[in-house]
Amino acid sequence: MKGIILAGGNATRLRPLTWVTNKHLLPIYNKPMIYYPLESMQKAGIEDVLIITGPPHVGAFMNLLKNGSDFGLKLTYEIQQEAGGIAQGIALGESFAEKDKTLVILGDNIFNFNLKPVADEFKKQDKGARVFGTQIPGDAKHYGVIEIDSKGKVVSIEEKPDHPKSNIAQTGIYMYDQRVFDFIKKLKPSARGELEVTDLNNRYVSEGTMECVMLDWWVDSGTSFDELLRANNTIAEKIKNGELS
Ligand code: G1P
Repeated sequence: MKGIILAGGNATRLRPLTWVTNKHLLPIYNKPMIYYPLESMQKAGIEDVLIITGPPHVGAFMNLLKNGSDFGLKLTYEIQQEAGGIAQGIALGESFAEKDKTLVILGDNIFNFNLKPVADEFKKQDKGARVFGTQIPGDAKHYGVIEIDSKGKVVSIEEKPDHPKSNIAQTGIYMYDQRVFDFIKKLKPSARGELEVTDLNNRYVSEGTMECVMLDWWVDSGTSFDELLRANNTIAEKIKNGELS
């Protein structure tokens, strides 16, 4: 299984912090944001990881992360010329994946869930995908919203619906079989002009092969100053109480 971390985009909502610094290099308490998905990849047992970012920032990522040996990983870098959605970013990993399954993590997702048991189980299965969800206190309408049945099988995923069918948000962590790249080729841009990860995931939902795994906590640190601050405070607290190092 190969790893893909998406670390592109313009992060306009975090300007002026992101005029010259890529969002994923901003600090989360004592580490750059990108360290979190990298460490999650390593803990999941992934060895080869592709980092996808935009042209102005690829040099900064290489200076910081080099060949990845400090993380026990082998890193490769790919350039996303312009922001065109999560699924468009994933598509850039096709030749890197070399027909292996993939674990995709958005570079601004902060969590401390051990993905290894799920990855090990997923590797054995013939086809399908996994999406990771989390309970949102209050309203999940700012996210992709996942509806599941009693066995954890996904019934529907709706992108930022006005009337959410559950309070489970789709996080930025996904596992895909080898067919993901063919599915992306069939997607059409959404109203916001992007190839949506929700449309991609719904290909698996409609064939009944998408399962949802719940995370205990998760912060989408790159969406606003408040979420960035919340990620910093959450990590600081977990380090101080010994839950994280
Ligand atoms: C994207 C996905 C959405 C998901 C979110 C998680 O939203 O489209 O389904 O819940 O990431 O971070 P975006 O941040 O692109 O609006």
